[in-house]
Amino acid sequence: MKLILDLDTGIDDALALTYALGQPDVDLIGVTTTFGNVTIDQAIKNTLNLLSLLKREEVPVFKGSSFPWGTSDYHTTEDLHRVHGVNGIGNVELPESSKEVQQQAAIDFILQSAEVFGEELIIVTAGPLTNLAEAIKKNPTAMKKVGKIVMMAGALTIPGNLSLFAEANVLNDPLAAKFVLESNISFTMIGLDVTLQTMIDYQDIKQWQAIPTKAAKAITEMTTYYYTNEYSGEEFGGALHDPLAVAAAIQPALLTQVLPINLTVETEEPSIGRTIGDMNRLNNSVKNAVVGLAIDSNAFLDDFFTITNRILMNAK
Ligand code: BDR
Ligand code: CA
Repeated sequence: MKLILDLDTGIDDALALTYALGQPDVDLIGVTTTFGNVTIDQAIKNTLNLLSLLKREEVPVFKGSSFPWGTSDYHTTEDLHRVHGVNGIGNVELPESSKEVQQQAAIDFILQSAEVFGEELIIVTAGPLTNLAEAIKKNPTAMKKVGKIVMMAGALTIPGNLSLFAEANVLNDPLAAKFVLESNISFTMIGLDVTLQTMIDYQDIKQWQAIPTKAAKAITEMTTYYYTNEYSGEEFGGALHDPLAVAAAIQPALLTQVLPINLTVETEEPSIGRTIGDMNRLNNSVKNAVVGLAIDSNAFLDDFFTITNRILMNAK
């Protein structure tokens, strides 16, 4: 299968990239980038440097959206710095990649890949839904050809993380998220409902510490920053949000409970960014979303560490 990862390259995005690169039957044909955990320029830089660190510089990186719909600027916040560091990767300094971002725009790469690969293509988004929204807006017919779209976004049955109501990827661009959720494009939503069932802490990442590569050292350092800061304390750990979306795309059987539903996003205060059932489409028999509600977290964590151990070991 062909995979496009759409990243706002913070720490769990870096882990999703590592995990995707190690998947045996997956051809990562490109990474599209977006603002979110970091600015677009930092997301591009982090992605290029991570690919170089992981010895996979041949994977092309594309520039996507710089700011949310309805705005013309984007700044990261203290909250984001706390979770991902000022540079998005836990303030770890990576060697500069010699590669450049591609000339082709992210949404054109997505649309071209949809035409070329159709059913064979999987798109996993791990940042705000702006690139996806723009691709759907520009060419909905091409986007309907995509085999599968899985997004790490939203929270249906539990509170948000950036606010009481909203998950970060949705709150960072509620208008684009609403557009995607209300489009008739089919997708799977991997929200906080399931990602908070896949936490890691120092016990889990001990195994990376024994791997004698620069990649293992850097990934261990950034993940340590993440699990100690995401929920302000080591006890709760850090959630493998973005890697879980990759897993759900490749091994959907990991999801042990799902809900087919039509969704929308609230775009006004006090609940801006909330993902919720769409009243206007409540009685439609066709549902365009499947929301993950339960996951076999042990099976996922086993797979995540088996695959990341291997790729970190091989990144010599
Ligand atoms: C999501 O928001 C970002 O901070 C993470 O990278 C993840 O994609 C979690 O809410
Ligand atoms: Ca992300």
